[in-house]
Amino acid sequence: MILIQSDLWLFFGRFHSLVVHLPIGFFLLGSIFFFLSKRASWHFLKKALPISFLLATIGAILAAVLGWLLAAKEGYNGGTLFWHRSLGIATAVMSGLLYLHFSGRFHQGKNLSDWGLLLGITLLTLTGHLGGQLTHGSTYLLDYAPPLIKKIFPRKHVQEQAIAFPMNPDSIYLFEHLIRPVLDQKCVRCHHTDQARGGLNLQTKEGLLAGGNSGDVLEAKPQQGSTLLHRVTLESNHVKYMPPQGLPMSYAEVRLLEYWIDHGYSFRQTIADKGLPSDILDLIKKEYGLSNKRRSYVEVHQVSAADPSIIHALEADGFTIKKLSKTSNFLEVIYRDSIDCGLLQHLIPIKDQMAWLNLSRTGLTSTCLVHVQDFTSLTRLQLAQNPVDNGGLIFLKDLHYLESLNLFQTNIDEEGLSYLEGLEALQYLYLGETNIDSLKRDEIKTQFPNIQITLN
Ligand code: HEC
Repeated sequence: MILIQSDLWLFFGRFHSLVVHLPIGFFLLGSIFFFLSKRASWHFLKKALPISFLLATIGAILAAVLGWLLAAKEGYNGGTLFWHRSLGIATAVMSGLLYLHFSGRFHQGKNLSDWGLLLGITLLTLTGHLGGQLTHGSTYLLDYAPPLIKKIFPRKHVQEQAIAFPMNPDSIYLFEHLIRPVLDQKCVRCHHTDQARGGLNLQTKEGLLAGGNSGDVLEAKPQQGSTLLHRVTLESNHVKYMPPQGLPMSYAEVRLLEYWIDHGYSFRQTIADKGLPSDILDLIKKEYGLSNKRRSYVEVHQVSAADPSIIHALEADGFTIKKLSKTSNFLEVIYRDSIDCGLLQHLIPIKDQMAWLNLSRTGLTSTCLVHVQDFTSLTRLQLAQNPVDNGGLIFLKDLHYLESLNLFQTNIDEEGLSYLEGLEALQYLYLGETNIDSLKRDEIKTQFPNIQITLN
């Protein structure tokens, strides 16, 4: 019974958009009559003013009542509604006053009618505009505007600029970076905090999780799956198809949404997560130009240039120092002679710039590696053909950006590798001609499943 009543109110409420045009018409007609009647030959129109404004007043009151019902039943709320409602009531009051004035019940100054009418028309225009925003979305006037006008009036709810993605795939969230912008662009104008059509607010995570009038929109329901996905995959001429107006979602956007919902709609899922199916990876690459491969520390970060005088001093020490590329301040450092451990300390002032360090065939021992633990910007470290053993590897365990480690022809064995387990950026490990037990090779590969290991 309550439901029937509520539907009935909504049935009447929906006549608001029809009825609202009556007071607008009568008010404008009355105003036109008034200004025309200033000419002697049109003076007779004055007689029509009271009835015009009486009808405008009755229409405005009726529209206000129906509008109230509509707002209460269709989930409108917020600032836009408040102003639409207040100005709408003010317009009704203003028409009433003009009716009383023109029907001769007030006797005030002559100019009052001009000002009263001007104020009334202003109120009417503002109320109508806010009503337009409520029905068609806050950007409705500009949706189809020429580009020049769009530029002058940037739109609040619409995100048209390219989104800046974080550098690394493990910071690119499926929802935040790929799905949310689509909802912002195609759904939020009707599903936002001030005006949640169908009771659904897609502007915030909380709104999305809270669902709409029909309940949860993410959870799969029998037969149709999740309501959100169901609504965007209907035939586009179906009455329930979303969005009912404006740009539809593309195939790629729907597929991504489907994957995200079917896999538990986690807000923490990134494009680097294991197990993303290949069609999703292809789509992310094609549509967004994103790869799930981790980017190197040196591609992602920037450093200021090292002090040239320090570089000269290091070159005098026997180090060869090169920039990784013309545009990068990161450095490659090579030493080719037999090394005195203390020399490594001289590298401390350029430790932020030093990304590659080659100490192969320098006679380096494990104890020397104590200095290397400070070189936290290293992405490549070559220690090949040195008497380094397991004890030295402990000093490498905090090199969190290290991507490549060459231990070819060193004295390490499988025991020492446990120190490397925490190196999350490590991708290449060269272990040829070490003391590793050839029977342990398979074990090592399972110990480091994501690292390319070279054992010969
Ligand atoms: C032009 C306005 C408009 C746009 C744009 C729009 N919707 Fe809607 N949406 C509505 C209206 C009105 C309703 C309530 C009537 C209905 O259920 O069909 C609704 C209802 C819904 C519902 C049902 C909520 C419930 O619980 O009953 C879902 C889900 C939905 N929309 C999703 C979307 C998605 C996703 C988009 C973007 C792709 C979108 N909408 C874009 C106007 C819009």
